[in-house]
Amino acid sequence: MSELISSTPVWKSLTEHAHGASRVHLRDLFAADDARWRQFHLEADGWLFDYSRQRVNAAILGDLLRLATSVQLQERIAAMFRGDAINVTEGRAVLHTALRSGFAGSPEIQKEVLESRAALDSFVASVRDGVQRGFTGGAFKHIVNIGIGGSDLGPLLVCDALRHQWSGGITPHFVSNVDRTQLQDLTRQLDPAETLIIVCSKTFTTQETQTNARAARDWIASRLGEAAVPRHFVAVSTNAAAMDAFGIAPERRFTMWDWVGGRYSVWSAVGLVAEMVLGSQVFKDFLDGAARMDRHFIDAPLERNLPVLMGLIGVWNRSFLNLPTLAVLPYDQRLARLPAYLQQLDMESNGKSVTLDGERVSYPTAPVVWGEPGSNAQHSFFQMLHQGTPTAALDFIAPLRNSWGDVLAQDLALSNCFAQAQAFAFGLNADEVVASMRAAKVSEADIARLTPHRVHEGNRPNSVLLYAQTDARALGSLLALYEHMVFVQGCIWGINSFDQFGVELGKKLAAGISMSGERAPTGPGSAALAELIAYVRRRR
Ligand code: F6P
Repeated sequence: MSELISSTPVWKSLTEHAHGASRVHLRDLFAADDARWRQFHLEADGWLFDYSRQRVNAAILGDLLRLATSVQLQERIAAMFRGDAINVTEGRAVLHTALRSGFAGSPEIQKEVLESRAALDSFVASVRDGVQRGFTGGAFKHIVNIGIGGSDLGPLLVCDALRHQWSGGITPHFVSNVDRTQLQDLTRQLDPAETLIIVCSKTFTTQETQTNARAARDWIASRLGEAAVPRHFVAVSTNAAAMDAFGIAPERRFTMWDWVGGRYSVWSAVGLVAEMVLGSQVFKDFLDGAARMDRHFIDAPLERNLPVLMGLIGVWNRSFLNLPTLAVLPYDQRLARLPAYLQQLDMESNGKSVTLDGERVSYPTAPVVWGEPGSNAQHSFFQMLHQGTPTAALDFIAPLRNSWGDVLAQDLALSNCFAQAQAFAFGLNADEVVASMRAAKVSEADIARLTPHRVHEGNRPNSVLLYAQTDARALGSLLALYEHMVFVQGCIWGINSFDQFGVELGKKLAAGISMSGERAPTGPGSAALAELIAYVRRRR
């Protein structure tokens, strides 16, 4: 067993710093050094990362960087890009970077990636040019992507975020939920003759996807005839036998590799629906944006490395300041689905409590990641963030102009974003509350009664991440940035960021539950479960 990182001197030093930090307000840090911004911001690769409102100082940052060195972070990064089997519990390489960066993985892998990309580009062109048509001869105008988790969230985010870059007249739709509502909504609205369905599932065994895919198959077969099925279905999977059984035509299968994890797969054929809607050039820009971030991650020294700094600050907030959640707040409607995407990326990767050696960690790992577009969130849950009992860390993400190039509208968004960053950091103390009420001629009795309700404690650490505009390159770069941030944190915590055994138990139990009541539940708590099932049956 190797030593837990929490027993190292640098971790202990950071723990000491955290005790000190608990007595220091961000107001104090700025009062001591109003030029903090100069020291605590980084401009790199089209991004401005302002972390001056994080509760760090030079000594803390120095220790965090020493922490990164102590886990040989740069060697770990190199090992990932080389294609070493760093996913130790599954004995796999982790090479999603090879899907976008020509320098990752072996020459053989690069060759396979290029071949796969050429096949995808040519299929995309044939659909967009109307060479590939539906069974009755009409061009495809709608694409339904059936997938869940990484086979849904990535392509959905890319389509949504780059809506202003759609071309070719194809509208994407997404079906993920096992309750079939999304599919039933679509089959009421779409013409099957102009609909292409992508069954996107690395394993091709996922219950939700299989159920929806079979229902979609029935829809096509019942409306256009069984012979239409091969023309209206495409699959993205590694499971050839299951695609055979489903009836996917061999020339309409796009493969992936076991070195691409589901939540890291948007760069692969999993992104097919997005490429269809955006065209291959825009999708290539998306890949290029990520490749540039890969290069930065490899080349930049740790103290000027964006994913490294973000990762270290996240470790500080989670493991030392004990902040349980990270709120992701994009000030751009285009990034509305980013929090959901990052939830899977971060929590499925680092939601672990044992180290690579199987030893239980003694410190908190992944935060709960959540969020909404900032503008809307201000009018819902920001109240709790400002004055509630839990304290969250906050990532503000904002472009300089909106996706249609509108600067004036984005100025409103940015002024709100910056105002919130200030308010969370500095709050409003009792003296300020009293002074403002006195200025408004509020009675002394009311001032005494209302002051506690109006105080904002502040000291909520936050970062602001700015970039020019949401486009394919920026989006690729942003997603790669968070991927690498998660990687850095996994390295520091000593956990495997690339397996997901925690999702298996529920799947297995669901398969054993008979809602028809044919089989009685077994195992712990089966009597209570039997009551739930009986209630459902009684009330239907
Ligand atoms: O259940 C979790 C998970 O395995 C994710 O990791 C993955 O993204 C998702 O299910 C979908 O898996 P598949 O692409 O194999 O259908």
